[in-house]
Amino acid sequence: VPIAEDPSLDELAKDPHACWHRLRSQAPVVWVPALGGWVVLTYAAASAVLRDAVTFTVDDPRFSTGQLFGPSMLSTDGAEHERFRAAFAAEFRPTDIRQRFTTLIQDEVARLIAACGRPAEIRTELAGPLAVAVMGAVLGLSEEDPARLLGWYSAIVAGVDAISTGKAAGADAVSAHAALHNRLALSIEQNAAIVGTNGLSIDETVANAGILLFGGLETTEGMIALAVWHALRDPAVWRDLRADPSLVSAAVEESLRLEPAATRVDRYATVDTVVGGVTIPAGDLVIVSLAAANRDPAVFADPDQFDVRRPNAARNLALAAGPHYCLGAHLTRLQTRTVLEQLLIAWPEAALDERQTSEPYGLVFRKPDRVTVAW
Ligand code: HEM
Repeated sequence: VPIAEDPSLDELAKDPHACWHRLRSQAPVVWVPALGGWVVLTYAAASAVLRDAVTFTVDDPRFSTGQLFGPSMLSTDGAEHERFRAAFAAEFRPTDIRQRFTTLIQDEVARLIAACGRPAEIRTELAGPLAVAVMGAVLGLSEEDPARLLGWYSAIVAGVDAISTGKAAGADAVSAHAALHNRLALSIEQNAAIVGTNGLSIDETVANAGILLFGGLETTEGMIALAVWHALRDPAVWRDLRADPSLVSAAVEESLRLEPAATRVDRYATVDTVVGGVTIPAGDLVIVSLAAANRDPAVFADPDQFDVRRPNAARNLALAAGPHYCLGAHLTRLQTRTVLEQLLIAWPEAALDERQTSEPYGLVFRKPDRVTVAW
């Protein structure tokens, strides 16, 4: 049994990559005592686990998001998962997303860039508010005070994080979830949301809409902050993007690959099984490290380098794969691309203020706390 010499949670939150490289060179899958689960480290094993929802399920009472939200597409598999996902899938197809949200996102990005301070802190002044505005529009919550929405949201994220590390969600998370539930139910009753005419009950709709919100804020905020951080961290990358803005999509994929804003997804083994030559007993927690798979040298040459011309960057698993592939993938990519495209035009001379910028941090959700841009 490959057992990791225990990396601490602190080490993993600070810089998981060196640790995952070390462990991946020993085995494709290792038991990490600090996480209480098997961590899947290679691209091949991660893809296989993500695509096999019969052997590796999310449908388990220990699942952190399920404990807070109740059954949703994120915490079910098989027919129930299909029913939930189908109720929302049409709204998130690439053409529908482009048609409904391109202008809204462009206008909101332009407005937020114009309102940024000098210097500008990208996460809190641009990425976070954009994600809230877009998800507000998706869910019919545009009228809601964004600060209130974010307050509920942060409490829920803290609760999910606590559950992921074996603690209780906490009273704040539970009451924030109740408040969000009531607000979403109201929006559905008033027919303001995209949701509500999809054949699900109100409770089912609210649970899934809550998951959309949960999936769409912190991660998008992180993804945008990370993309700007990557684009500016090496001035040569920014110069390349300025010279050829058609590279923006590739830069977004490369940023997703190097630092997926959601670093892992959790599954539970339904039977005794073998992954990458390692036997996993039924019932065990299986953590698919998207961060580790995305830097597997067997798939991505020179994996720690940001290479805007990497031919296969889009094969990254940052948005997962298989039946639970991120429903918001097109919407979140559109937001991130729009931010980079408009920054290149609005602030061509932008540069990172290193003293006021932090490295990415986080065990499950990962992003830099501050990405400060100056001229
Ligand atoms: C508009 C923004 C977003 C929305 C609305 C959204 C929504 C969702 C939803 C509803 C699911 C569950 C799909 C299912 O289980 O069938 C999902 C899955 C997922 N999303 Fe997103 N998401 C967004 C952005 C992001 C971002 C920025 C990331 C990371 C960079 C991300 C990473 C993931 C991952 C890894 C999964 C798979 C979860 C699993 O397999 O357990 N999402 N997303």
